[in-house]
Amino acid sequence: MDQRRREFVKAAAAASAGVALAQSLPAATKAAPMKILILGGTAFLGPQIVEAAQARGHVLTLFNRGKTNPGLFPDIEKLHGDRNGDLKSLEGRKWDAVVDTSGYVPRLVSLSATLLAPNVKQYVFISSISVFAQDIKPGTAEDGALATMPDETSEELPKNYGPLKALSEKAATKAMSGRAWNVRPGLIVGPGDKTDRYTYWPVRVAKGGEVLAPGDGDDPVQYVDVRDLAAFIILGIEGNLTGAYNATGPAKTLTMKAFLEGVQKGTGGNAKLTWVSADFLEKKEVAPWMDMPVWVPRRDGGVGMTQLNCAKAIAAGLNFRPVSSTAKDTLAWFKTLPEDRRGKLAAGITADKEKELLAAWHAEKKG
Ligand SMILES: NC(=O)c1ccc[n+]([C@@H]2O[C@H](COP(=O)([O-])OP(=O)(O)OC[C@H]3O[C@@H](n4cnc5c(N)ncnc54)[C@H](OP(=O)(O)O)[C@@H]3O)[C@@H](O)[C@H]2O)c1
Repeated sequence: MDQRRREFVKAAAAASAGVALAQSLPAATKAAPMKILILGGTAFLGPQIVEAAQARGHVLTLFNRGKTNPGLFPDIEKLHGDRNGDLKSLEGRKWDAVVDTSGYVPRLVSLSATLLAPNVKQYVFISSISVFAQDIKPGTAEDGALATMPDETSEELPKNYGPLKALSEKAATKAMSGRAWNVRPGLIVGPGDKTDRYTYWPVRVAKGGEVLAPGDGDDPVQYVDVRDLAAFIILGIEGNLTGAYNATGPAKTLTMKAFLEGVQKGTGGNAKLTWVSADFLEKKEVAPWMDMPVWVPRRDGGVGMTQLNCAKAIAAGLNFRPVSSTAKDTLAWFKTLPEDRRGKLAAGITADKEKELLAAWHAEKKG
């Protein structure tokens, strides 16, 4: 076993035993500094990978078009280009690993992986749990059935997001002759997430009062804090992981009730949860996931997607901070946003809609 692998196994064992990653790796056991290229790096997950890598002493290069947050990380080397046809600035350079956070179609993943294959040891492709077929069963591991599409040459997004990520995994693996690590996150949440597909809850719960909570409280939910995912990605680079890894959490089943209670613990406030049935919400055309973020009712066949088996990633060191910490930090980040942005959440329901639904729910219960 080489030194890199030995250090990784030690760190992963400590991390999966519940020790926070940063604490589990004393400076003396830090991996030797590595050169890491990120294809992207400046939106949401990318910056957290940068921070996690820097905390471990690694040296970074970012490749992007220079459009998204161009002023970020002034001290890091930036290479400009476009995945869609201009990869010149990557030619003739060597890195230990490349992390592809911006690959969505196999044609472009293949272009970059083919170009980089002779010059990088590992290609980390950030995939998604959306690679799985919709009807997978609870407990599905990495070998579950994958989503497909009739015309594999179509690059239609977001319609074919899942199948295209599945084909992109294949493309990376092929171009790298097996040296690709396909990381499949579930919903990525935390500070910096612009989609509000999780942030709705800390914001709403902190506001207090009667909160419409979807379902009966027993529906399982899964997500991963962007910082925990980033730490895992760096750990997997140090350990030179390959193959597919489901990367969502937490480690044990988290119900919607336990989730919202954890959020309340992190955000404080006097919120009182009123659980409103999935049938009622369906009748009122309140959509799981986008109107009621994070939530997928058990009866919608969404169970598999919210109960994926992540044991392989957990054994390799994927660690999860408490529900309350993610909620607390996300709320603190949200409060730093401009007022007009804070007034318009990109997911969830408005205060007026919530009031109307709660009134109708109480009236139905009385009647
Ligand atoms: N959010 C979730 O819940 C979730 C769940 C599962 C999986 N994922 C996956 O996680 C990843 C998240 O990525 P992120 O957006 O947060 O990553 P990021 O690395 O923070 O940001 C995306 C980067 O890609 C660059 N980029 C975009 N188009 C480009 C092009 N044509 N050529 C070169 N660079 C380009 C952008 O910079 P420029 O604009 O300056 O080029 C930006 O730096 C995605 O792969 C997504 O599919 C997300």
